[in-house]
Amino acid sequence: MATAVSTPNIAFIKYWGNRHSDWRLPAADSLSMTLDYPTVEVSIEPADVFSVHSEKELSTNEIGRFKKHLELTKKYLAQKGYKLKAKSYKLTIHSHIPPAIGLASSAAVFSAVAKAYAALIEEQDIRLTDEQISILARLGSGSAARSIMGGFVALQTTNYSLQTDDIDSAIAIQIAPASHWPLYDIVVCPSLKEKEHGSTEGHHLAHTSPHYAERLRQMPRRQQECIDAILQRDFEKLQRVAEEDALDLHKVAETSTPSLKYLTEDTHRITREIIKLRKREHLAALYTMDAGPTVHLICTEDAVKTVKEFAHAQKDCTVFETKVGSGATILTDRHRDPPQQEVSL
Ligand code: DP6
Repeated sequence: MATAVSTPNIAFIKYWGNRHSDWRLPAADSLSMTLDYPTVEVSIEPADVFSVHSEKELSTNEIGRFKKHLELTKKYLAQKGYKLKAKSYKLTIHSHIPPAIGLASSAAVFSAVAKAYAALIEEQDIRLTDEQISILARLGSGSAARSIMGGFVALQTTNYSLQTDDIDSAIAIQIAPASHWPLYDIVVCPSLKEKEHGSTEGHHLAHTSPHYAERLRQMPRRQQECIDAILQRDFEKLQRVAEEDALDLHKVAETSTPSLKYLTEDTHRITREIIKLRKREHLAALYTMDAGPTVHLICTEDAVKTVKEFAHAQKDCTVFETKVGSGATILTDRHRDPPQQEVSL
């Protein structure tokens, strides 16, 4: 049995739309900060029949997604010449994340699942690289690839020049570790109700928006500006590009057919108020929203006290206080000898 723990991440440059949906090959690169909280723990053990157990009752579709993920994992591993020992597995999930509130629960879950499969493979003295494990995570949820590593992580298309759509043509790469820039994410959730349209649906519909082609044209510039902002620890630059990208994603979602409206009046009120507050107090704080009404307030150490006060003052909102974190880890393997064999992509 292998047990892995992982956390969500918050994207500054957002993944929206695929060029190959079965394999979750994103249409453009993205970039996020891995969070240190809330955690998800996943244990995987060999079993005769595939099953998934969690506190939350899972729908047939959800179980099907984990099953398909195992099939794709086997497919990718076979391509590398590797094989999981058992035919099937039992997955046990303990999540501390409220589902479907724009807090990337699927990212935390599938990064933990991928890390646990990698630990099972390691029993055969085969050590997958983090980039390879990120591919396993991506096959379950695109953004999960980025939670494999800590700090600031890009999900990048490889082989641009060849324009290939191979199963391994997008991997996560760490831009900088958590120690590089101690940023916080104070998460303000106006509602804990499950959202109606998941991001998987959003990815499918992205191309129906008249603004999507322009979004794809802007993505390489935004990705580079975001990488530069992080490497230079330039908060103003990060704020400009992250807010531009978040608003653009929601413009695309709202103008797709059917229209996906993730943001609510509460979201808009919170963003308007944080803009006023940061002007007044010269705060290094930015806002961003994933596929839900939740507002992520990213800020520096100097700003965090004021941002927390602001977040807790929001009526009827649930607040999570998080910080840049160190990515998915294995619990059971901590005391094992290092494996012999390193493999490359
Ligand atoms: C808006 O990774 O959740 O959060 O691959 O279908 O699970 P699936 O999609 P997912 O999409 C994330 C969308 C986003 C932006 C981001 O995190 O990059």
